[in-house]
Amino acid sequence: MRVLGIETSCDETSAAVVSGTPHALSLDSLVILSQDVHRLFGGVVPEIASRQHLTGIVPAVNAALRDANVGIRDLDAIAVTYAPGLVGALLVGTSYAKALGFTHDVPVVPVHHLEGHLFATLLEHANAAPPFTALLVSGGHTLLLDVPEWGRYTLLGQTRDDAAGEAFDKVAKLLGLPYPGGRPIEQLAATAERPEHGHPHHFARPMLRRRAVVTDEDYYDCSFSGLKTAVLHAVRASEKAGTLDEDKASIARGFQDAVIDTLVEKVYRAAKAHRRGRVVLGGGVACNGALQSAMRDRFAGRGGDLFAPSPRLATDNAAMIAAAGLFRALRGERADPSFTARASLPIPGLVARTVASHAVSPGPSHAPPRGG
Ligand code: KG4
Ligand code: ZN
Repeated sequence: MRVLGIETSCDETSAAVVSGTPHALSLDSLVILSQDVHRLFGGVVPEIASRQHLTGIVPAVNAALRDANVGIRDLDAIAVTYAPGLVGALLVGTSYAKALGFTHDVPVVPVHHLEGHLFATLLEHANAAPPFTALLVSGGHTLLLDVPEWGRYTLLGQTRDDAAGEAFDKVAKLLGLPYPGGRPIEQLAATAERPEHGHPHHFARPMLRRRAVVTDEDYYDCSFSGLKTAVLHAVRASEKAGTLDEDKASIARGFQDAVIDTLVEKVYRAAKAHRRGRVVLGGGVACNGALQSAMRDRFAGRGGDLFAPSPRLATDNAAMIAAAGLFRALRGERADPSFTARASLPIPGLVARTVASHAVSPGPSHAPPRGG
C-alpha cells in the first residue's frame, strides 16, 4: 500500500509518501515547510499559519510526489490530519486532501494528529510497535498512554495544566531565549551542573510524592505551571542580585531536570504497572537528548527498550500522518466526504484508565489552543 500524508495542524506545511505495511514501512519522501515567521511573534499566530499553509500546500505535495517518483494515481490513499489543532490551519489540509481525492478517485483517510506522533518512531525502528508504554510530549500535549495494540489506547495520565513543550517555550521566554524554546533550553542547560537539593535552582517536582500509590488520581499525571512560577521567582531573584546572566544556565538546567525527573518517573510507573518492555516517545520534546538518556538510564539494565524518533520525525511532519493513515486504510477505513477539521478530539480508540472503579476523565487538555 502507498499513502500520501498531509499535515497542516499548526505551523509546518508537510507532505510525505510512505509505503509498505505497519511491519515494514518505507519512507519514500518527506517535505516539511516550517513557518519561521512565527518566531517574530514568540508563538504561532493562527491567521498567519492558515495563510502560509495555503501558499505552501501545493508545492509541498507536488515535491513529495516528485521525490517519491510517483503520481497521484499510484496512491492507494491520501491521509490527512483533521484534529486536533488550529481549525483554520487544519481546514487547508483537509480541503486540499478532499479535492485531490475526489478529482483523482483516491480514498481519503482522516488521521488524528496524536495517533500520527505514535507512529512516527515506527518509521525508523520496526520494533517500536505495540505493546508499549507511550509518552507524547509536544507543544500542545503531554499524554501517558498504554498501547496494547495499534488503535487501542488507554489514557493513563496527562498534564493538569501546561504541556511539557509549552513549559519549555514559556521558560525560554522568561530567560530571553528564542521561540520555540526547547532546543535553546537544552543547549543552555547542558553547560550547567545539576542543581542538587537545597540549591536555589533545584525546583520542586510536582505530583512526585514518594508514597504515591497507583490508585491516586495523580499517580500518572503531571503539572508544570507551578514549576514555571518557580522559575519566574528564580529569574526575579537573580535580576535583583544582578547575577541573571551568569545564573541563566543553572536555572535552565534546574527547570529541565525537574521536567525530566517527572516524566521519567511517570513513564517508569506506567511501564512497570502494565509490564511493558518497550517505551515509545513522541512529539517535539522527545528530541531532547537529556530526556532520552535519562529514560534510557532508567530502563537499561531492567531489560526495557526505549524508542525515540529523530528530530525530523519527532516534530510535526506528514510522514507520521501517512504511517498512521496506512494502518487505518489497511483496516478499510475511508472518510465520509462530510468529515471536517476539529480543534479538539480524543484519539480514536482512546479509553480512560479507571481508578478504583471510577473513570478518570480525559480532561480539558484535549482542547488545546494549538496543534499537538
Ligand atoms: O510536536 P511538536 O513539533 O509540535 C506541536 O506541539 O504541535 O512540538 C513542539 C514543541 C515545542 O514546544 C518545542 O519547544 C519542543 O517541542 N521541543 C523541545 C526540543 N525540541 C523541540 N523541547 C525540549 N527539548 C528539545 N530539544
Ligand atoms: Zn505535534
